[in-house]
Amino acid sequence: METVLSGIRSTGHLHLGNYFGALRNYIKMQDEYNCYFFIADLHSLTTHPHPADFHAGVRTILAEYLAAGLDPDKSALFVQSDIPEVSELYVLLNMIAYKGELERTASFKDKVRKQEDNVNAGLLTYPVLMASDILIHRANKVPVGKDQEQHLEIARVLARRFNKLYGADVFPEPQAFNFGSDLIKVPGLDGSGKMGKSEGNGIFLYDDEKSIHKKVMKAVTDSGPTEPNSKMPESIENIFTLLKIVSTPDTVAHFTEVYNNCSIRYGDLKKQLATDICKHTLPIRERIEEIYNDSDYLRKVAKAGCEKARESAQATLKEVRAAVGIKSF
Ligand code: TYM
Repeated sequence: METVLSGIRSTGHLHLGNYFGALRNYIKMQDEYNCYFFIADLHSLTTHPHPADFHAGVRTILAEYLAAGLDPDKSALFVQSDIPEVSELYVLLNMIAYKGELERTASFKDKVRKQEDNVNAGLLTYPVLMASDILIHRANKVPVGKDQEQHLEIARVLARRFNKLYGADVFPEPQAFNFGSDLIKVPGLDGSGKMGKSEGNGIFLYDDEKSIHKKVMKAVTDSGPTEPNSKMPESIENIFTLLKIVSTPDTVAHFTEVYNNCSIRYGDLKKQLATDICKHTLPIRERIEEIYNDSDYLRKVAKAGCEKARESAQATLKEVRAAVGIKSF
């Protein structure tokens, strides 16, 4: 059976980008694959969170994973920092990752622009840690959104390079995955770009109905089309992209038609979009709080996940160490 692995950084609540780009696929995959899903808490340290917020962030994501439908009886659910083998593999992979290739990564360049006073080595080697997460379980498929495509390419490069350098066949090459279609980018509703935590434009699984409506009603629009069948500006296209993700094909067809014949009322479009987002998120939201407060359950889940993940990680690391020539006396 093929192995699947993926993770989400522990910074704040999960937003629609995380859910539709990644988590929804995790939930669908857990019946068919050998699954590992984790909380990338070490990755979140690049922005230096306060220690108290750091742990709360991990707890939030674990509770939201479970509320959204990840089942600890089917998948290993664990916390990245509970698996020390990942950090050891990270050290070893750093030796074969080149500064130039890491500097060329789009996400690194973006961070250099956004947090120029904190360009730490962890940011530069972020994709190496990510490759370690993936390769330590020899994952074949990695369900992620479009923004992670380049990181997956780096994981493949490092897997190939390691195998070649040490003449070993330790790592398979992991592929980004989204059920038979292209990886997706969930847009923000602030005019351009993707929805993201650091973009400040998130609609969260944790948001209540009122805030979802409020956020959607604030979406950037224009004064409306004046020519039939005109090309949509990016801000309107983004609303339609989200509509295609959350609404029925009939709804999308209706609003496309009224856009094309210039009779669209953006207020109606946004109201429909907000209502359809709520249909997906509110049943999840209902469960988050109760799970978040159930310390015994969270501890049990994380412990079982950690045991399963460490078993797999230790088996890989044993082969890695042997390939590199690390031996005890
Ligand atoms: P993170 O926490 O930024 O995002 C987690 C997942 O959500 C997806 N995503 C999106 N998909 C579509 N549209 C969006 N607007 C959007 N925003 C976020 C991301 O593609 C991702 O799948 N580096 C990773 C975490 C990570 C990881 C790994 C993932 C660490 N190690 C190993 C896979 C395998 C990250 O920062 O994701």
